[in-house]
Amino acid sequence: MSYFKVFGLEEEPFSTSPDPAFFYESAEHREALLRLEIAVKLKRGASLLVGDVGTGKTTLARKLFHVFQDRTKYEFSMILDPGFHSELEFLASVSDVFDTKPEAPTIYGYRKAIETYLFQKGVSENKTVILLIDEAQKLNVEAIEVLRTFLNYETNKCKLLQLVLFAQTELLPQVRQIHNFWDRLSLKYILNSLSIKETKEVVGYRLKQAGYRRQVPLFSEDALDMVFHHTEGCPRRIMMLCHNALETLIIKNRLQVDSETMRELITEEARIVHART
Ligand SMILES: Nc1ncnc2c1ncn2[C@@H]1O[C@H](COP(=O)(O)OP(=O)(O)OP(=O)(O)O)[C@@H](O)[C@H]1O
Ligand SMILES: [Mg+2]
Repeated sequence: MSYFKVFGLEEEPFSTSPDPAFFYESAEHREALLRLEIAVKLKRGASLLVGDVGTGKTTLARKLFHVFQDRTKYEFSMILDPGFHSELEFLASVSDVFDTKPEAPTIYGYRKAIETYLFQKGVSENKTVILLIDEAQKLNVEAIEVLRTFLNYETNKCKLLQLVLFAQTELLPQVRQIHNFWDRLSLKYILNSLSIKETKEVVGYRLKQAGYRRQVPLFSEDALDMVFHHTEGCPRRIMMLCHNALETLIIKNRLQVDSETMRELITEEARIVHART
C-alpha cells in the first residue's frame, strides 16, 4: 500500500532497509566512514566497528562499498552472514566471495587459493583487496584464527588483505580475549546512537529524500522529542516508530504526528511488550 502518497511523498520515507539514498550523515557515521576509509586506503590491515543492534552498521557497510567501487583500484568483497560451523566452511565461503578456484576443496586447497589470490591482486595487479564481514559477532574462534593468518600476508610495505569487521557490541569482550588478533586491529570504533538533534535531523532528512515538500511539518517538535526519548537515538527504532506514526495518521485521519499520536503509539508498544512478558 502506498500510504506515503497521502502526505505528498513519492517514496516510503521510513523503510528499514539499509538504502544508501536515505543515509543521513550523522557525526558518528561520518567519522566512522572516514576512519574506515583511511585505514583501508593506508592498507593498515584490520578494522573493527561495533555498535548496538540497529545503530546503522549494515547501512555503513553499503556506504563503504560505494566508496570503494572503483574496480581498477579495489577488490571489495562482503560476507553478510558469517555463521559458519567449521574452518572448512568458512574458508570455502571466503574463497567463493573472492571468486577463487582451489585445486581441491580442502583446508589446504582453499588456503592456497586465497593466498595466491591475495598476492595476485595485491602485488601483481597492485590493487587493494577488501573483505568486509558484517554480523561478525557470529564468527567462531576458528574463523577468527583463519582471518588472523590472512593478515600475516604482507609485503615490506603493507598488508595484502584489508579486513573490515562490523559487529554487535557483544563481539568486543570475545575478541579482546584473543590477544594476537586484538593486537592486529589497527582501528577499533564504537558506533554510538544519534543525539536528539541528529534524531530530529534524520527524520527531516528521510522525509525530504522521500519528497516531502509541504510547509507544515509532518512531525511536531514535541513528537520529535518523544521519538528521541523513546528510541534513545537508535536509528532502526526511530524508523519503525516514525513509520508507525504515519500509519496511525492515516488510520485516524489526522494531518500531523503530534505528542498525542506519539503517546498513543508508545503506550500501545508498552502494552504489547508487557503482554509478551
Ligand atoms: N545514518 C543513517 N541514516 C539514515 N538511516 C539510518 C542510518 N543508520 C541506520 N539507519 C536506518 O536504521 C535502520 C537500521 O540500520 P542497520 O540495519 O544498518 O543497523 P545495524 O546496526 O546493521 O543493525 P543490526 O545490529 O540488527 O545488524 C535501517 O532502517 C537504516 O536505514
Ligand atoms: Mg546489520
